[in-house]
Amino acid sequence: MSHIRRTLFACAVVLACARAQNLTDDQLDAVKSNLMQGAKQSWELGTESEALTELDTPSYAVVNGSSVPPPLGSAPSSLGEVLTIAKNVVSSLSISSNNPDAPQPLDLPSGGAAGDSASLGFAVLLANWTGQGASDNLDYAAAATAQLNWTLTAVPRTSDGAISHRIEQVELWSDSVYMVPPFLAYYGALNNNQSLLQEAHDQISLYRNYLRDTNAGGLWKHIVLGNQSQVDNGHWSTGNGWAAGGMIRVLGTIQHSEFSGKMKNQIKDLISWTSEIHDAMYPHLTSDMLFTNYADDSSTFQDAASTALLASTVYRLALLGGVHTHVPLAERCRQALSAPLNNSTSSASSSQAAVQRRQASTSSTDRPGPSAAHSPSSSSVSHSPSSSSSAAPSATQSLAHFDGAMWLTPVPNPDAWSEAGQHSPEGQAFVLEMYAAWRDWVAAGAPGANTAFALRAGGVGVLISLATGALLGVGWL
Ligand SMILES: *[C@@H]1O[C@H](CO)[C@@H](O)[C@H](O)[C@H]1NC(C)=O
Ligand SMILES: *[C@@H]1O[C@H](CO)[C@@H](O)[C@H](O)[C@H]1NC(C)=O
Ligand SMILES: *[C@@H]1O[C@H](CO)[C@@H](O)[C@H](O)[C@H]1NC(C)=O
Ligand SMILES: *[C@@H]1O[C@H](CO)[C@@H](O)[C@H](O)[C@H]1NC(C)=O
Ligand SMILES: *[C@@H]1O[C@H](CO)[C@@H](O)[C@H](O)[C@H]1NC(C)=O
Ligand SMILES: *[C@@H]1O[C@H](CO)[C@@H](O)[C@H](O)[C@H]1NC(C)=O
Ligand SMILES: *[C@@H]1O[C@H](CO)[C@@H](O)[C@H](O)[C@H]1NC(C)=O
Ligand SMILES: *[C@@H]1O[C@H](CO)[C@@H](O)[C@H](O)[C@H]1NC(C)=O
Repeated sequence: MSHIRRTLFACAVVLACARAQNLTDDQLDAVKSNLMQGAKQSWELGTESEALTELDTPSYAVVNGSSVPPPLGSAPSSLGEVLTIAKNVVSSLSISSNNPDAPQPLDLPSGGAAGDSASLGFAVLLANWTGQGASDNLDYAAAATAQLNWTLTAVPRTSDGAISHRIEQVELWSDSVYMVPPFLAYYGALNNNQSLLQEAHDQISLYRNYLRDTNAGGLWKHIVLGNQSQVDNGHWSTGNGWAAGGMIRVLGTIQHSEFSGKMKNQIKDLISWTSEIHDAMYPHLTSDMLFTNYADDSSTFQDAASTALLASTVYRLALLGGVHTHVPLAERCRQALSAPLNNSTSSASSSQAAVQRRQASTSSTDRPGPSAAHSPSSSSVSHSPSSSSSAAPSATQSLAHFDGAMWLTPVPNPDAWSEAGQHSPEGQAFVLEMYAAWRDWVAAGAPGANTAFALRAGGVGVLISLATGALLGVGWL
């Protein structure tokens, strides 16, 4: 091939990098229906309820510009799926008529994951707020208050007050930052209780003290304290995403509440702690624009789920906190995750093969992580479509990072975080959160879209990856 044609090809690759690539509404609908069909565990349903609200009813989401609490009165029909989650949860509780507020989680922590049930609190509080009990006679307010009381009084804590993610003993998991503080904050904002907003901030601060690893550039560890066979000092990418996502939710809740004027310092903290995670994570992005399952361990498989979750927090931080540093990289990640199979930004088909090779070589070895992420495998495997489900990707796969049925790939097994999995409901939710955040960010005028060529870490990353894309393009001929 002539020199000129090579050069033209490299330019085309670079241009393709620069061209926006978006999932269509039909594709997002398929992502959503997989999520709705696949989510079974409490944290999956909690995350689903938040993702669907952000996507379909932004004026009721804590991360949009809307006020918290949302308007009183009947709910818009777009909240139907979220309210159905709340109804299913609350109708399976037994609420004592003598003492309806008595401490009780919204879902039995069969596996001992105390934090996960709190993530259902958002949907349940919203069901109460919009008066669902008047038609179905369920006591949503009591159910939410019982969960609050349980979280605050029944779950063990560290001596300095960090609420454990597990019920049987104190363990701090990065995951918990997405599950618990946002519920405390939302309860506080809906009940004029500033001390609960403060508690949400303080819990994040405590978790940060334990989990942020200053020897790893500020990446968060996954699990500390408690059961030595569960401790995971590795820097799990999804865990960093859960932590940043929880911070963003608490940030949005405080900012849009009546207490925002009184809590300026807490707002500042949350912006700076979220930035810290972004600053630590983005230098580890691979040239395929994905994180690896453990951000600083390139021998682990590539992970589209954490990549989507973190991108959502970057768009949100740009809107809520005015921080634009990583916006150009989040855009590149979103485009890579949305790229067609035969035409991707950085030669996706060859990188896919590499991913599959990496998955094959790491899934059975590497990390000795236990096989139950939030809940024990005994309760999860039978319900979850995620683990080694037999559904094969359909032959009509047209996108590099979704199978033919629009399941995101590659992803960790949600029930065994150190292994690659096939179907991840939380990964589907992260895609919707990324697209909801991106849409809001575009509607706000895409602030920070041109930070790319500023002399900052993010800009250098883009330049390097553009160059990598061009080289791959040439090498490919
Ligand atoms: C993607 O969406 C953005 C914002 O709506 C639009 O400007 C752009 O043209 C779209 N790109 C493609 C390839 O559809
Ligand atoms: C809230 O969502 C709407 C709809 O996407 C968007 O127009 C608006 O800019 C968003 N506001 C913020 C601050 O995200
Ligand atoms: C539960 O919390 C509510 C609100 O803080 C309080 O009024 C109630 O007494 C608590 N009930 C129990 C049993 O802890
Ligand atoms: C339930 O909703 C009502 C408004 O409909 C509100 O006054 C009350 O504080 C809410 N209760 C809880 C626990 O959020
Ligand atoms: C806020 O909530 C906490 C926990 O339920 C409770 O102890 C406290 O009394 C509440 N404060 C106000 C002002 O309602
Ligand atoms: C510690 O975790 C392992 C693996 O999840 C489990 O088998 C064991 O029972 C746990 N030990 C305690 C004391 O909880
Ligand atoms: C592939 O890329 C070329 C040029 O970059 C573009 O014209 C074409 O529409 C793309 N095809 C698909 C399926 O996206
Ligand atoms: C490329 O992908 C598009 C759909 O994205 C498909 O219609 C087309 O047939 C594919 N072309 C090749 C050569 O695989």
